[in-house]
Amino acid sequence: MADNKIESVLKEHRVFEPPRQFVEDAAIKPADVEALYSAAEADHEGFWADQARKHLDWHQDFSTTLDDTNAPFFKWFTDGKINVSYNCLDRHLSAKADKTAIIFEADDGNVEHISYADLHARVCRFANALKAQGLAKGDRAVIYLPNVPEATVAMLACARIGAIHSVVFGGFSAPSLRDRIDDAEAKMLITADGNYRGGKLIPLKEVADKALSEGCESIESVVVLKRSGADVEMRDGRDIWWHDVVDGQPADCEPEWVDAEHPLFILYTSGSTGKPKGIQHASAGYLLGAVTTCRWVFDLGDDDVFWCTADVGWITGHTYITYGPTACGATQVMFEGVPTYPEPDRFWKMVDTHQVTIFYTAPTAIRALMKHGDEYPQRHALDSLRVLGTVGEPINPEAWMWYRQVIGKERCPIVDTWWQTETGAHMITPIASYTPTTPGSVTHALPGIEADILDESGERVTDAGAGGVLVIKKPWPYMLRTIWGDPDRYKETYFGMYDAHTYVAGDSAQRDEKGYFRILGRIDDVVNVSGHRLGTMEVESALVAHEAVAEAAVVSRPHDVKGEAIVAFIILKDGEGDEQLASDLRNWVSEQLGAIAKPEEIRFADGLPKTRSGKIMRRLLRTVARGDEVTQDVSTLENPQILDQLQAKGT
Ligand code: WTA
Repeated sequence: MADNKIESVLKEHRVFEPPRQFVEDAAIKPADVEALYSAAEADHEGFWADQARKHLDWHQDFSTTLDDTNAPFFKWFTDGKINVSYNCLDRHLSAKADKTAIIFEADDGNVEHISYADLHARVCRFANALKAQGLAKGDRAVIYLPNVPEATVAMLACARIGAIHSVVFGGFSAPSLRDRIDDAEAKMLITADGNYRGGKLIPLKEVADKALSEGCESIESVVVLKRSGADVEMRDGRDIWWHDVVDGQPADCEPEWVDAEHPLFILYTSGSTGKPKGIQHASAGYLLGAVTTCRWVFDLGDDDVFWCTADVGWITGHTYITYGPTACGATQVMFEGVPTYPEPDRFWKMVDTHQVTIFYTAPTAIRALMKHGDEYPQRHALDSLRVLGTVGEPINPEAWMWYRQVIGKERCPIVDTWWQTETGAHMITPIASYTPTTPGSVTHALPGIEADILDESGERVTDAGAGGVLVIKKPWPYMLRTIWGDPDRYKETYFGMYDAHTYVAGDSAQRDEKGYFRILGRIDDVVNVSGHRLGTMEVESALVAHEAVAEAAVVSRPHDVKGEAIVAFIILKDGEGDEQLASDLRNWVSEQLGAIAKPEEIRFADGLPKTRSGKIMRRLLRTVARGDEVTQDVSTLENPQILDQLQAKGT
């Protein structure tokens, strides 16, 4: 985050109470929240046991709440049996069969309403089809689909039969898809011929074919949804159309009752090394977090129309599209397109059309739409809205205030929700009906979540304004269980800094005078571009895989819309860099990883600033990338003359 942004956040003292009318109408009252906090403080495990029995339907009750005998490999509700899809679908059928579960709006504006009964039938049919294709409990299926209801159907169908899904965002490249398929040893790939986003064709099947052309030996079948109608190649004996596999399948499928700890999904995310981590979540605990946070944070109830604008390919889409709203029996909007197509009022128009009451998006979208001007939101009434949320990256006070005034008309509480792929659901966030909010602040931890800030020696940092390492001091039901296939990396990454009970989030944070948390940024080599997590090492590995590149170092600099933008310093094998090569390298990264990883700027140099022991001085590169004056001590630099060259403007 930009230093000047941190400044403006630090000077932020405005406090906004939850609007009185909102609190009066809310399902969860301040007294209920107080009761939750005191129950959680009095008995952490007992609190979560009560919540698990209240919010989830169990096939068999559990007797152990938390098993921490093998910390940090925690287990929750161990001898309980459950099925996640049953909780998201079947349990609503008696009272809400005809209630709309999903209002789907396609890129071209086409709208489809799917009832709970219909969603249940679709999931059952597809679950039966998966079984017929040989997918069984514990097998992995990679889902590479657009943000369409079939993605939710595929995820819930996997959950229904106890198969483990791993969704790969549709913007990821062939090599990224291949790596994830290989790491998960997936037996099946579920994809589409393609789809349109912002009027542009995304050729998913073509990318999938490229991924499958090398490696991916574990894949036995590829199920292809017809969506774009594009001409695609169907390989005999491997590829089969979605409509053919479901044809003739019964609309009922007995759920597979699995152990509470049975893996529900793996979702890959970036870390400090070049290789993405397969974050593994467990069935019951994860679902519990999805439900409690929807209820508490958003005050999600039966009359709401909830809209999370994320893609199901990210954790936000998992928790706040596929699992949370459905487990709550709510109505939600799902959108295939982009906020600026056909015009920058698409979101606001959809809010009015579908009478959205709870709207959840990323700061990067807010900043981008704010730039287009107030006339776009002003075309629409926006009076159905009652809660606004943000997620994924720090929000600057200016964007927060715009969101509050222009979108929420000062009537809607804003919940700035801090959490991660690893945490499964919200952790530190205001509760809409309870928490006075401050622009740029994620306020306080939820009931049952013990967040704190520690210094390097493990002492608590309590002074207002002092920064430290953000930690969670007690296990919580919806935390990740391990990194798929790499338990040592799990232990080391998240519990290596202090002890086996102290989860290290990878972010630094500070408190203000009210004790509210503020997130300062990552402490590892992870950057956040438009709310998407990227490892600088991943981008570096992609760059050095290019034939012209000898060495690469990647850092980020602040960007007023994307939050952060990638700057790559490149040492060529020979010759000088030019505009053309810079553009080739940008496209190369996009092909290797996906468009979100495309560097904003490429700078060619003869060398990188290194210490005499050969370590790249990243802090120095960050200063240079920002165009700031270098105040660091450069006396340890092996090659100080390189500095002038690095500071020259890039292409
Ligand atoms: C950042 C997204 C500031 C943070 C749900 C975290 C945030 C990373 C916020 C996780 C927020 C997420 N304010 N920063 N409200 N929410 N982050 O795994 O650095 O894609 O560690 O999960 O995003 O990103 P991930």
